[in-house]
Amino acid sequence: MDIKKPFVLGAGIMGAGIGQLCAQKGYDVDIVDISDDVLDKAKSKVQKGMERRIEKGKITQEDMDSVLSRMHWSTDIEKAGDSDFVFEAVLENMDLKKEIFGKFAAICSPETTLATNTTALSISQIASATTHPERVIGMHFFNPAVIMKLVEIIRGDETSDATVERAKAFAEKLGKVPIATFKEAPAGIVSRVLAGFLNEAAVVYADGIASPQNIDDAMKLGAGLPMGPLALIDMIGLDIHLAKMETLYAKLGDERYRPPAIIKDMVAQGKLGKKTGEGFYKY
Ligand SMILES: NC(=O)c1ccc[n+]([C@@H]2O[C@H](COP(=O)([O-])OP(=O)(O)OC[C@H]3O[C@@H](n4cnc5c(N)ncnc54)[C@H](O)[C@@H]3O)[C@@H](O)[C@H]2O)c1
Repeated sequence: MDIKKPFVLGAGIMGAGIGQLCAQKGYDVDIVDISDDVLDKAKSKVQKGMERRIEKGKITQEDMDSVLSRMHWSTDIEKAGDSDFVFEAVLENMDLKKEIFGKFAAICSPETTLATNTTALSISQIASATTHPERVIGMHFFNPAVIMKLVEIIRGDETSDATVERAKAFAEKLGKVPIATFKEAPAGIVSRVLAGFLNEAAVVYADGIASPQNIDDAMKLGAGLPMGPLALIDMIGLDIHLAKMETLYAKLGDERYRPPAIIKDMVAQGKLGKKTGEGFYKY
């Protein structure tokens, strides 16, 4: 079945990116958040990003105008009822996601695919808030969603094969490479493999061994990475990284996933990374 009208809940880093991606691929998309203020900020961020691409000669003014005209911003979650493919990208919090999936179950047709962009929460638990858990699936985009090629497709215990195929096909239509897990998997593949590595970089800094810049430069030059681990945590958001660690530690019980004190402290101080202007670096 062709997707006619995607819908995105949450206009933060990920939701705005997924919405922009849908619009760039020609879909009219509803993007919904809790306040006009949040929506205005998201909209202006998308616009600024596209203006930079115009300056670089990568797209034209007409391209930008047509993408922006397909992005429909509002605070009305009921618009999910018009959609045949819903993305959820709100904060990484199980109670909130369950409340929202309960609403989707009431608003959307049972045919609508309900995809969550959760980093590490259980798809089965999120799906338990709905009437049709077989159409609930994890679609984990990476930041920035318009650029990063991978979409991890994570099943819940009751996700149907048809839902997996539909999610994979839509990811491909959006120009992505879908990689599906065989079963429910906290944090999928990439975030789980990266988790211990990112934590260790934070601990090396907390131990006073080197500055964030030195740690990042060392990892780039010595390990051939395109980006240093502390700049990456700043880009992901320290709150998102912490939530992921807490889930992984609770689920897998392995010490390498224990959230480091420095990350907890920085989150408590509101140093969430790029999005708040300060993390390991100042922005
Ligand atoms: N940041 C990343 O690199 C990244 C990567 C992959 C997946 N994720 C996951 O994507 C999800 C979103 O993360 P993010 O980084 O975009 O967070 P974010 O904080 O940038 O955005 C979250 C948005 O959700 C909105 N929101 C909160 N409650 C809402 C509600 N009831 N209805 C509508 N909107 C609501 C907030 O206003 C905010 O704009 C999380 O589950 C996160 O784990 C994040």
